[in-house]
Amino acid sequence: MIIVQICVGSSCHLKGSEEIVELFGEYISKNNLDDEIVLTGTFCAGKCNRSGVTIIVNDQIFTGITPYNFSDFWTNTVLPEVEKNR
Ligand code: FES
Repeated sequence: MIIVQICVGSSCHLKGSEEIVELFGEYISKNNLDDEIVLTGTFCAGKCNRSGVTIIVNDQIFTGITPYNFSDFWTNTVLPEVEKNR
């Protein structure tokens, strides 16, 4: 089980955190990972000077997530983390 926190602070909100939440929802159900990923929101993670949305996976912070690079982020970061925590 991994915990994914999507920053919904005002800066990340403007950069599309809502869309990222939706994408996460889609990818989680498409991959049947509802039991393995806990999706939650977080307030400003202190990284809002970067582009894109800030996401915390377990305790690692990732910045600059956009709908365009989301699929890479999912494949290269989220899925390996799920595997590691099985
Ligand atoms: S608003 Fe997301 S890191 Fe600050």
